[in-house]
Amino acid sequence: MTDPAGGAPGATADVEHTTTAGTAARATAGTAARATAGFRSRYGAEPAGCWAAPGRVNLIGEHTDYNDGYVLPFALPLHTVVAAAPRDDTGWTVWSELTGDPVEFGPAAADEPGLVTGWAAYVAGVVWALRDAGYAVPGARLAIASDVPLGSGLSSSAALEAAVLAALVDLGGLDLPSGEQPRLARRAENGYVGAPTGIMDQSAVIRCRAGHALFLDCRDDSVEHIPFNLDEARLTMLVIDSRAPHRHADGEYAARRRSCERAASTLGVPALRDVAVADLDDALRRLPDDETRRRMRHVVTENQRVLDTVVLLRARRVREIGSLLTDSHASMRDDFEITVPEIDTAVEAALAAGAVGARMTGGGFGGCVLALVDADRAETVAAAVRAAYAERGFTAPGTVTAIPTAGTTRLR
Ligand code: GLA
Repeated sequence: MTDPAGGAPGATADVEHTTTAGTAARATAGTAARATAGFRSRYGAEPAGCWAAPGRVNLIGEHTDYNDGYVLPFALPLHTVVAAAPRDDTGWTVWSELTGDPVEFGPAAADEPGLVTGWAAYVAGVVWALRDAGYAVPGARLAIASDVPLGSGLSSSAALEAAVLAALVDLGGLDLPSGEQPRLARRAENGYVGAPTGIMDQSAVIRCRAGHALFLDCRDDSVEHIPFNLDEARLTMLVIDSRAPHRHADGEYAARRRSCERAASTLGVPALRDVAVADLDDALRRLPDDETRRRMRHVVTENQRVLDTVVLLRARRVREIGSLLTDSHASMRDDFEITVPEIDTAVEAALAAGAVGARMTGGGFGGCVLALVDADRAETVAAAVRAAYAERGFTAPGTVTAIPTAGTTRLR
């Protein structure tokens, strides 16, 4: 949720097309070339390999992950690449193209959450989580380049954690199956960096498949890869970077978690996932105040919207998910209260210009909007959002078109 400085800002600068697999692969190769060149010039040697982890958006299912619920993210063709090689000793040196200054730490700093700070904390957090789980983590030199923009809610932090984790697992020959890697990467963020996020982001960036959305049950980590073929439906997914500054995002996120936990404990259930839509009215009556009621209503109805979306996608009825996306946005705006004026403006302008559906994606208080649009209307919708922004005096939004991409991979 928070953003490390391992990525390049401005990657969403006005209408870029990442729509074809070929364009995406070329862009990733460029990121890998920067990481490799950075490795060579910083360390005077060749890296042993390059590992790439993507950013993500969530198609639907917001603030459901920490309620043991359902999410449906897909990976974006924007990557963080780590070029790495082992060191002879147990120590870690990390360089990022964004800051230029390398950070070095040893086991003592890695074993004490909070000792490594700033963007390198995500790297130290991965080392910490691995060591804490009993793995013999190899010392390593790492060089990082990224096209996942910072501060846009596209999970640049999870991409950094996942790429570093993949590199260390491979370099050390560690026995950590990819299905178990999201929990470990999340521990780095929760336990070392101190951000109380759920399991969605790390699962998405590690487990997604090209051409599919990841239907994840956050209670037991079971997944189904759901075909999400936009071309076949003649649709395009616009990812609109609201460019809204994240206002109090961390504190508000934690407050939403607390409300949900309060609601679950009042109802005597392990998590809000255990409240079915059919039981919602009864559950609402048992909660003490209006705010807690609305927070719960969002989570319960959002879980159902994920299930309904999955049914439609399995039946290849992609266009029909539009109204679920728009309903999800209204629920985040009115019940969960996590949207901001820039975000609502982008959604309203996109819908008014003919988008099939639109919603904020991610934790909220800024970040990105998804607009599902007819392929031949992408430019029109993007232009309408820009015009609405200009009218209100907001910083111009960025727009990219996105296809579902694969999760973390070794490039060479
Ligand atoms: C952030 C968190 C996720 C999830 C979303 C909201 O992205 O990192 O765990 O809670 O917000 O759906």
